[in-house]
Amino acid sequence: MPIKIGVPKEVLEGEQRVALDPGVVTRLVKQAGAEVLIEKDAGKSAHFLNEAYEDAKLVDSADEVYQNADVVLKVQAPTDEELNKMREGQLVISFMDPYRKHDTVKALAEKKINSIAMELIPRISRAQAMDALSSQAGLAGYKCAIQAAELSPGFFPMLTTAAGTIRPAKVLVVGAGVAGLQAIATAKRLGAQVEAYDIRPDAKEQVESLGAKLIDTGVDAAGEGGYARELTDEEKAQQAEALAAKLKEVNAVITTAAIPGRPAPKIISGDMVADMKAGAVIVDMAAETGGNCELTQAGETIVTDNGVTIAGPVNIPSKSPVHASEMYAKNLLNLVNLMIEEGELKPDWEDEVLAGGCLTRDGEIKHEGVKSVIGG
Ligand code: NAI
Repeated sequence: MPIKIGVPKEVLEGEQRVALDPGVVTRLVKQAGAEVLIEKDAGKSAHFLNEAYEDAKLVDSADEVYQNADVVLKVQAPTDEELNKMREGQLVISFMDPYRKHDTVKALAEKKINSIAMELIPRISRAQAMDALSSQAGLAGYKCAIQAAELSPGFFPMLTTAAGTIRPAKVLVVGAGVAGLQAIATAKRLGAQVEAYDIRPDAKEQVESLGAKLIDTGVDAAGEGGYARELTDEEKAQQAEALAAKLKEVNAVITTAAIPGRPAPKIISGDMVADMKAGAVIVDMAAETGGNCELTQAGETIVTDNGVTIAGPVNIPSKSPVHASEMYAKNLLNLVNLMIEEGELKPDWEDEVLAGGCLTRDGEIKHEGVKSVIGG
């Protein structure tokens, strides 16, 4: 029996992405020998219309997807209603937000749903083509740089005109991971003068390779697996002093700092904002996990009394749904291909990528990191 892969329409408000675009559906059907069921209009908000899915079977409801699919592919973590539609033994692959959505993880285990969380796929070389955190973060970094330019009351590039010379905007990118590096590249392309700040020692070379300068605050906090660790109070104070001086000069700040599985580090205090220039802009990419700036309000754009605009965009990749969906679908294709043999589902749960990405299986929470937080 060929494997049946199902894609329901995303239900989270504002989510515009879809798990599979028509091109990837064709590859799953023609090359991997799968059958693909797509809920009608699942791709509509990502601008993939029903007729574009010519190799899929379109079904009228999400119920039909969940009733018939061996593997369900989604973007956002399942809601309670979606969890109720799932069947025992079904494999669900999606972002799961497992460190925050404890009840969802428990329900997946209790209902004996086998699940893979895209954010848990190990970031090893072999799994780069399945790394949805990176594909979506790159888009988010790009979008945040564009938003900073749009909210800014001035130009980003230097301009020499008959009406005078405009100096380039000074942009600071805090957190130079995947998103931050794309924000740096985008702000540079827009002509801004870009500086960046990170606490991972590797960031220096990466930032400089994009032609930007890394600010040295003397804090070096490399953690496990190339990620940052949480700073000590002393290091936080050292960081704050160096950044406060820099923030007074800049026209725009894009913050992307994160620590996996933890709330976003608070890097920009209310006092620092009070010392920034009128007209300066902060785009806080970490708004969803608490924000890197103390004043950020998730999903809102506010203006402080001293004229600083602070944007806290949420679900940023969804704002570029075409390419975000195409890239996410490619990540899923590469992952699903790892589990298909001659058109049939045969996952090798010992495989490093699947073992690392597996959240629940056979009624148990399998991921050690998540299990240690949730228990069970
Ligand atoms: P992330 O989203 O967890 O964090 C973003 C950035 O914020 C990181 O660069 C982090 O160092 C920085 N940060 C954290 N706390 C900070 C603080 N207090 N002040 C300033 N900056 C702070 O990270 P992301 O972008 O998901 O990846 C980070 C690491 O993972 C990098 O080393 C990257 O090269 C590596 N990576 C490896 C991949 C692979 O396949 N081998 C793929 C993607 C990323």
